[in-house]
Amino acid sequence: MRLDEFVSNSGPNLRGDYSRARADFTLDQDLSAYTVEEHTLWRRLYERQMKLLPGYAFETYLEYLSGLEAGDSIPGFERVSQRLRRATGWEIVAVPGLIPDLAFFDHLANRRFPVTVWLRKPEEFDYVVEPDVFHDFFGHVPLLFDGAYADYLHAYGKGGLKAARLDALKMLARLYWYTVEFGLIRAPEGLRIFGAGILSSGGEVVHSIDSQQPHRLAFDLERILRTDYRIDRYQDTYFVIESFERLVADTAPDFTPIYKRLRELPPIAPDEAAPGDEIAPRPEHGLS
Ligand code: PHE
Ligand code: CO
Repeated sequence: MRLDEFVSNSGPNLRGDYSRARADFTLDQDLSAYTVEEHTLWRRLYERQMKLLPGYAFETYLEYLSGLEAGDSIPGFERVSQRLRRATGWEIVAVPGLIPDLAFFDHLANRRFPVTVWLRKPEEFDYVVEPDVFHDFFGHVPLLFDGAYADYLHAYGKGGLKAARLDALKMLARLYWYTVEFGLIRAPEGLRIFGAGILSSGGEVVHSIDSQQPHRLAFDLERILRTDYRIDRYQDTYFVIESFERLVADTAPDFTPIYKRLRELPPIAPDEAAPGDEIAPRPEHGLS
């Protein structure tokens, strides 16, 4: 979809300044445009998350995050891109806000991760509906330094372009949701978070690992492709991967016949634990 079409179709709810965006929906990050108050809000968000994450976030994520030294102020993207290019061949590109699916997949398929430039308002400290620079950068960017994770996201982007041709975006979007955004991983030290939607959330960090409420199921590609999700509350179900390498291997097969088969089956509700689902053992963590 063209930029002007996207903006007019999206209506007044679209947040962000699209007037400076190029045809591929990117723009130049204007670091000097952030106010002192915004940098301070970033630092408060960062500090709050850092108090929550030890023992909950995947250690690899925490290591790459600390290497970014991004705790004091909203980081400049170009400096990070230079390091990323050397590490995994990825870069981050600035975008005004949400962009069309195909533009998003095309960026991922070329190892470019779109990061929103605007920061939430102070009253959105605990919850912001659309992804802002804190979610996109803090949640997503650190793991782009991990080789296997970086390859997974690249394959996902190419898979997205293909799923669009096969009219299977709804199914593929569930895979992004339950891995990239809300994925858990069985690390040697215990159950840990790698999904950006949890890592950048004030409340869901503890809920996802410690709460008795949600289902935690072993990663199962076809199960995920069928499972609906809620965007307006903590997840009812999390899927647990064994490693990024395993995730890459499990998603490597051609999805074309899988889409075809699953299209005939009903979706699974977000809170349903269907018979045959393997429930990963409850976490050791925080429970007596
Ligand atoms: N193997 C998938 C396909 O053929 C592509 C893909 C890889 C999708 C990794 C998501 C994640 O469509
Ligand atoms: Co996200």
